[in-house]
Amino acid sequence: MTGYNALYTSINEAHETLMHGPSQYKWFASAKRFVQQSRECIGLAGTRHGEVVYDIGCGPGYLLWICRERLGCSVQGCDPLRGAPIYKELYQSLDLSQCISSHISSIQNPLPHSELKYDVIFATWITWIGFGNWSADEFSTYILQCKKHLSHRGRILLRFEESRFEEKLYESCLQQLGSKVAPLCYLIRA
Ligand SMILES: C[S@@+](CC[C@H](N)C(=O)[O-])C[C@H]1O[C@@H](n2cnc3c(N)ncnc32)[C@H](O)[C@@H]1O
Repeated sequence: MTGYNALYTSINEAHETLMHGPSQYKWFASAKRFVQQSRECIGLAGTRHGEVVYDIGCGPGYLLWICRERLGCSVQGCDPLRGAPIYKELYQSLDLSQCISSHISSIQNPLPHSELKYDVIFATWITWIGFGNWSADEFSTYILQCKKHLSHRGRILLRFEESRFEEKLYESCLQQLGSKVAPLCYLIRA
């Protein structure tokens, strides 16, 4: 089995567990929508073959899977729900268990300590981290701390959640740090 069929087959297997699971996991049922969003973000970041990629709050792991399987990237990510139902099954089906840690992204430590530098750091649909609760200074610090993990050609792709993000709150900071590349999406360079 090749290409996206393999991804969707794995997702469908994991969905079997979802059907009678807790309500907070129901959003996974829109797999195609989230796979499509991941593909868009990968494109907006200009992700290239063989790059080293990190996904903060990687959720179901679709973005990492696409980067690895379609672009031959080296991939890592974190999600505090790493061991929880659905996530665990998905990571196993997608062969991502070894790439994802349970690190909790925070202002001072957005990524776990590592000597490795990343070409692309994704933080998509990220209101959960604290955006919206943070001051503009705290938001700036978070981005600057993320930048320390970038390679010289590195980029950060942020995608905010439409329903909760108050874009105005960080507008000046976002203008200084990077550029808007699509609705709700910002690209920040090393
Ligand atoms: C709505 S999902 C988005 C998943 C994925 N980034 C996407 O765009 O489809 C948000 C994810 O962020 C994770 N998360 C919440 N707080 C986090 C934190 N402080 N650090 C890392 N991940 C976090 C949640 O467990 C959840 O899986």
